[in-house]
Amino acid sequence: MQKFFALVPAAGSGARMGAALPKQYLALAGRPLLYHTLKQLCACAEIERVFVVLAAGDRFFAQQDWQPFADRIEPLYCGGAARAVSVFNGLLAVRDLLAADDWMLVHDAVRPCLPADALQRLIDTLRNDAVGGLLALPVVDTLKRADAAGLVMQTEPRESLWQAQTPQMFRYRALLEALRAFDPALATDEASAIEHLGQRPRLVNGDTRNLKVTYPHDLELAALILNSMEKK
Ligand code: CTP
Ligand code: MG
Repeated sequence: MQKFFALVPAAGSGARMGAALPKQYLALAGRPLLYHTLKQLCACAEIERVFVVLAAGDRFFAQQDWQPFADRIEPLYCGGAARAVSVFNGLLAVRDLLAADDWMLVHDAVRPCLPADALQRLIDTLRNDAVGGLLALPVVDTLKRADAAGLVMQTEPRESLWQAQTPQMFRYRALLEALRAFDPALATDEASAIEHLGQRPRLVNGDTRNLKVTYPHDLELAALILNSMEKK
């Protein structure tokens, strides 16, 4: 029986947020942002364990109260200089716990509003798939290509273009080997490493609420989304 695990890269510094703390620890709806992300993954009964990849010198994680799901999460202090390195180091660290065909769902620590039905749709669509895939949304805005001066060079067709979200769900061994073979500076997501080996990840409809908190205003938006999700 194949099992499901999650791995949450949480070793970034949040440079674009420009806060005193890495953004995964900023307060959101009365808790650290990371709390909401982990809560949503732990709420899915099919996910056996949630591994959290932290920077080697992380002093913030241990200061928080993870008691509500402490038996489901496992911190790994092995983050790297790029997101792909953090993910790769995390995958290596758990190699004795996973079988080659087990599923690993890699989910950004800074996507705290993942709706339960989007997560379930990803798992249900892919559980019998050979390769795996990711949550994504069709691009809705008109796309402009600009020059260095910020002047429009041309309008790009948005047909067939999708925005990648997370979780991204791949077989453990295939993902480990794909990341080993790929330049971490080029791998902004797991799917691109899999694609580099000639595989075709499947796109599964994501959700606009599953935003990545990057800039200060995103934090306000995330608070509103969490508030409305909790009321339902
Ligand atoms: N991440 C990581 N290790 C890194 C860089 C990023 O684990 N060396 C994680 C972040 O903690 C985040 C996710 O990857 O959960 C997505 O990255 P991003 O939004 O770019 O976060 P940061 O790198 O922290 O932000 P910035 O790029 O603004 O510095
Ligand atoms: Mg980054």
